[in-house]
Amino acid sequence: MIIAANLKTNLTRKETNKYLAEVESFVSSKNITQEVLVFPAMSSLDTHDTSIIVGAQNAYATKDGAFTGEIGSVHLEEFAIKTILIGHSERRHILGETQEELAIKFNYYKDLGFKIVYCVGEPLEKRKAGKSEMMEYISSQYKGIDTEYKNLIIAYEPVWAIGTGLTPTLEDIQEIHTELKEKSTAPLLYGGSVKVTNAKDVLALKNVDGILVGSAALYGEHFCSMIEYAQELEGKEY
Ligand code: PGA
Repeated sequence: MIIAANLKTNLTRKETNKYLAEVESFVSSKNITQEVLVFPAMSSLDTHDTSIIVGAQNAYATKDGAFTGEIGSVHLEEFAIKTILIGHSERRHILGETQEELAIKFNYYKDLGFKIVYCVGEPLEKRKAGKSEMMEYISSQYKGIDTEYKNLIIAYEPVWAIGTGLTPTLEDIQEIHTELKEKSTAPLLYGGSVKVTNAKDVLALKNVDGILVGSAALYGEHFCSMIEYAQELEGKEY
């Protein structure tokens, strides 16, 4: 399974290196065979000497150039980063990235062979509008995205569940994941208020191939427990 930590705008470079060392030491001491990904803040990227996959939370669809405040692929290359998060709800809804821009970014990093964790998910009003409108909204987030891309991982993250402590029911997660699996056979993660207390139940669900964790992952110990749960579920029946 795939266990990913989105550290968002938290942890300095020094703290991130300490965090990665803690996770790395856990992973090697427990002989973890799951795929572990960590997305540090941009200025915390470094030449990480670790078996953990370190990815960027964002980058612009360019090698370099005049895009004030952004970084390009040359900046990721400097640290041998080949993994990127695209379409996170905070980028879509707070930073205003459109589907068109996300598709351009997706294609740019796809052409460079990056592992892409692409996020989709509905805001509360779409969930309240009923199942078909909600699924239609989520489908629109696949526009311009190559769902067959071999290095693609999709994360389903309902916007209303991110950082709120609210989650869909386990039945809801399974039902939506089953539908989303029809759009793409890429591994499908669930994200949105995953904690130590619910991670195991979520990971055990059919069609859930892993989790993308924000706030709870800031506690290295909690993130490690979630990695261990995934390891315990190795070989679960689908
Ligand atoms: P959360 O964030 O775990 O704090 O809800 C998840 C995410 O934004 O990826």
